[in-house]
Amino acid sequence: MFTKFSSDPQMFRVGYLNGDRIDTTYSPSNVIGKCCHEGLKKYFEKTQEGIEEGEAIKKAHEVAKMHLDSHSDNLIGYNTVASNRSKLEERFAFCFFGYIKDFAYKNNIKEILLVEKMLEHKIKVDGKLLPIPLKGSADLVTRDKDNKIRIRDHKFVKNFSNPESIDAGKLMQGVFNFFLVWAELKEQPYSIVFEEFKVTQNRDKGASQFKEFEIVFSENSLMFDFFYRFYDDITNALLGKQAYIPNFYGIYDREVSILSYIYKLDIVKEREKQFKKAKVDNVTDFLKKKIQKRGAMLKYLESVSKNFVSGKTLNYKDMTIQDKIKFKLAEHGIGLEFDSMVVGGSVTLYRYEPSIGLKMSRIESFVKDIEQVVETSGIRILAPIKDSGLVGFEIPNKQRTFPESSPRNTGFELAIGAKIMGDTKYYDIRTAPHLLVSGSSGSGKSVFLNSLIKQLMQIDNVDIHLFDPKQVEMSQFEGEKNIVDYQYDHNSIETSLNNLVEEMNKRYSKLRNAKARNIEELGGGMKYKFVVIDEFADLMAGENTLNAIQLLAQKGRACGIHIILATQRASTKIISGDIKVNFPTRAVFKMAKAVDSRVMLDEGGAEKLLGKGDMLFLTSEGIERLQGFNL
Ligand SMILES: Nc1ncnc2c1ncn2[C@@H]1O[C@H](COP(=O)(O)OP(=O)(O)OP(=O)(O)O)[C@@H](O)[C@H]1O
Ligand SMILES: [Mg+2]
Repeated sequence: MFTKFSSDPQMFRVGYLNGDRIDTTYSPSNVIGKCCHEGLKKYFEKTQEGIEEGEAIKKAHEVAKMHLDSHSDNLIGYNTVASNRSKLEERFAFCFFGYIKDFAYKNNIKEILLVEKMLEHKIKVDGKLLPIPLKGSADLVTRDKDNKIRIRDHKFVKNFSNPESIDAGKLMQGVFNFFLVWAELKEQPYSIVFEEFKVTQNRDKGASQFKEFEIVFSENSLMFDFFYRFYDDITNALLGKQAYIPNFYGIYDREVSILSYIYKLDIVKEREKQFKKAKVDNVTDFLKKKIQKRGAMLKYLESVSKNFVSGKTLNYKDMTIQDKIKFKLAEHGIGLEFDSMVVGGSVTLYRYEPSIGLKMSRIESFVKDIEQVVETSGIRILAPIKDSGLVGFEIPNKQRTFPESSPRNTGFELAIGAKIMGDTKYYDIRTAPHLLVSGSSGSGKSVFLNSLIKQLMQIDNVDIHLFDPKQVEMSQFEGEKNIVDYQYDHNSIETSLNNLVEEMNKRYSKLRNAKARNIEELGGGMKYKFVVIDEFADLMAGENTLNAIQLLAQKGRACGIHIILATQRASTKIISGDIKVNFPTRAVFKMAKAVDSRVMLDEGGAEKLLGKGDMLFLTSEGIERLQGFNL
């Protein structure tokens, strides 16, 4: 209710103060959530009464189903979760029985204390009676086997909420329930647990549909302070007095704004009073002091606080890089714990565990500050590191070393480059199926193409076509093993490409006659063809050339024709949408600007690369940083 007021006071007035009911449509998740709530209420009531499990489930299902039937179709906003009534019923059954069958906390409960009971209590805080009584209900209150009282909230969600972000709504609901349950049971509850059940079936069917999200009250006293001020302000606002109401959904992202709000730094008189008490004369020092004092509250603030203490005596000069990063970010109120470090040939990756409540996109905005304190440019931030809960900082080494050995292919598994740890990335070049190579001048494209060509030359049953408009990049291969075609002038290249299209069409009729879908099914008799083009942008003169490349890229794969295409330029004019679609695998070397990187990778980062074979390799698995080999 409070959150509603803070984010949308108009709707609050209409709905809560005037008591007008305006029917808006509900999403299927909403509807399912409401019905399951009704069902769960019945289920836990019956369980509390000691009714046998099967009977309790049956009664609960009847109630829930009745609620579902009472929702008329025109007030349901059907969407991808459920596109019609029968899908909705299916989803509902999945959720209802899914929840009841094995809800995660089933075996922890010792006793059910309250089931969705509407509570209303006058609450005294710091000896003062709050002017408006609190009113509300908790879905379920249990005493658990550890004897702790937990307030449990059933949530039916489309996506699990992110444990790293603090959700203001959840905290406020927690504080409210804390007071109400305490007053009702005369015993302090230990925590509120949000029992999230995912409405849609996990793609991984073995994974749990449940996730628990627990907020322990004794560790969140700051939130109570926040609540007190918020309560005051809301009360004043409702009484028609002037009050500043922050929007809930904005404020929890920043510990500084929360503290400023709690200590009323926005009110001049209050601010002066607080400054005097704390013996400071500015907001920063004040907040530092407060955060120090409040050390034990949220884990998040705890780490921020620790770092602030050290912040007073910061001497970056004598610090290790790992501390420099940590303290520089602590200056900005970001808490990180160092985890581990991986030293590579070109870069060193520093890995950190982020504190809760930290927004990933925030870290990225501090890249310049980190570059300044580490005294190294070209730092790449990985927030988060793929498939992990950590964040990473890739820092170029002062002394760069290149891979000593140059691994070779095993069949079509080509050695692409060395990973940060030093082991080799192999990739079956046929699965690319076409590879786009880009990077500014001198970044290492030609060296990379040459390393691929040398490996392709080792494979039997392969034809290689080289198109080299710059004339010098691949000329040394002319006439070598597997090289069936080497062209550099535009007309010859165009002719060769047209021949390849013709060859492709012939191959297709052969496949058709043999009733084979691709060259593998044909089982021999057809050679793989690799078409390597260095400097694609230089070829753009001819439209026929472009058409031929498009055709080969669209249809070449099945008949064993694969293209490796290099270009300096990354403008969308050169790399059209058609090219992007047909070249999903990309080796991106150092690019001039972040926008170029975005054209190639849909994200920045390539502008941070070091040149000379340092690349970001994009496949369907994601992006990986590699050092190319100079064979
Ligand atoms: N993998 C590598 N290992 C070591 N040095 C490399 C590597 N790749 C490139 N270099 C160095 O960088 C130089 C330039 O590389 P390369 O010729 O491949 O650039 P390019 O991207 O093709 O540039 P351009 O677009 O101007 O043709 C090479 O001559 C070599 O000295
Ligand atoms: Mg080149």
